[in-house]
Amino acid sequence: MQFILGIISILLAEVVRDIYHIAGHYWQPIKQFHLLHHKAYRRDFSIANLETYKKSQLYNDVPEALCMVGLTAAIAILTQNPGMWLGCVYSFVFLVPAVLRSQGMLLATDLSHKPGDLVEIPALWRVNRTYHWRHHFDETNAYFAGHFTSVDRVLGTSLSLKGKVVAVTGASGALGQGLIEELSRQGAKVIAITTNPAAVFRAGTTALSWELGAEAELLPHLQGVDILVINHGVNVHGDRSPAAVYQSYEVNTFSTLRLTELFLSTITKSNDRATKELWINTSEAEVNPAFSPLYELSKRTLGDLVTLQRLDAACIIRKLVLGPFKSQLNPYGVMSAPWVARAIIFLAKRDFRDIIVTINPITYLLFPMKELFQSVYFRLFTKNAKISANPMSGNIVERSTSKVN
Ligand SMILES: NC(=O)c1ccc[n+]([C@@H]2O[C@H](COP(=O)([O-])OP(=O)(O)OC[C@H]3O[C@@H](n4cnc5c(N)ncnc54)[C@H](OP(=O)(O)O)[C@@H]3O)[C@@H](O)[C@H]2O)c1
Repeated sequence: MQFILGIISILLAEVVRDIYHIAGHYWQPIKQFHLLHHKAYRRDFSIANLETYKKSQLYNDVPEALCMVGLTAAIAILTQNPGMWLGCVYSFVFLVPAVLRSQGMLLATDLSHKPGDLVEIPALWRVNRTYHWRHHFDETNAYFAGHFTSVDRVLGTSLSLKGKVVAVTGASGALGQGLIEELSRQGAKVIAITTNPAAVFRAGTTALSWELGAEAELLPHLQGVDILVINHGVNVHGDRSPAAVYQSYEVNTFSTLRLTELFLSTITKSNDRATKELWINTSEAEVNPAFSPLYELSKRTLGDLVTLQRLDAACIIRKLVLGPFKSQLNPYGVMSAPWVARAIIFLAKRDFRDIIVTINPITYLLFPMKELFQSVYFRLFTKNAKISANPMSGNIVERSTSKVN
């Protein structure tokens, strides 16, 4: 029991840290001091100016740690529970180095501000350097969490779409239009990638034509894209002719695979790992019947390949696992595409990597289990021989030379 209370007090200390941090962005009396913290680092997290760094420790990090110590101590005293003191002891671990750094007696930064290239993708539950880098250099009014990502997940600040260049395939379809609307509302600059030259999009959207099989021609455009949403798809319903088999796999699986490889080949810079994302619309047909066998087969293959690719992903790859919504592809859908689009963005901003939006409760149960077992199985029985000692160069060399054509 005392151990559990101790863990709770540590979590409380982290919540205090995050609240203090958010206040540093919105509450005038401490805003100027928090600004020092932002000025202290260059884009590679090296210290920009030692005096600013020391000042930022004294006026930002020390008071932040003092608040953590003070509030956790107050809670321990009020609850009169020895376990609750653990959060206070934990907070001291941050107070002491902050004091030493403010006096120039410790120059090593904490782990989230360690200088150098970003080598990981943003972590899901614990704040790593790449996660925190986005707070400094992507959007300062998001990614507030200091240690555990929970506060951002609650606030919807785990992903900022403001100013991001987001490209959507299948743009003229029902969900494509819904996503364009919602992404634009969130401040993203949207590129509508469409095979329909006559398609009309909301004002402010850039339209880009492409055709199946000519994915490589999109490469120059994808270089500047932050988030690619691969959303196009086809449903041949009851047709089981050879042409239907070919079309289902070509549209739903292989073109998506080619676009995935193409997009991953654009991840060349350290910060691309932090800002670039790939969202792939698979479908709940990954785990449930869609009463269209070829649709299921092609989407399941796609889903499995995405699971495989996520093992070595050079950026965040999200799966969109959607239930039936009304569109040309599914005239019997029960949800509406604009509502599904809003739900997708809501969950993406809370860093759901598997975005499940459906009315079928079984999917919420089956999909995470399938995804977990599948990824463990793939991890155990496959290896990526081409990934070198430097994970950054490994992915880039491999992806820029293979499969794209
Ligand atoms: N509706 C559902 O119940 C449901 C459920 C789960 C998942 N999904 C998935 O959601 C995505 C969007 O579907 P939707 O329901 O919005 O259907 P939709 O309105 O029919 O949109 C699909 C779009 O995909 C593009 N497309 C179709 N055939 C193509 C081809 N041969 N080559 C390249 N692009 C092609 C077209 O967009 P452009 O003309 O702009 O290129 C089309 O408008 C699909 O991946 C679908 O599988 C749908």
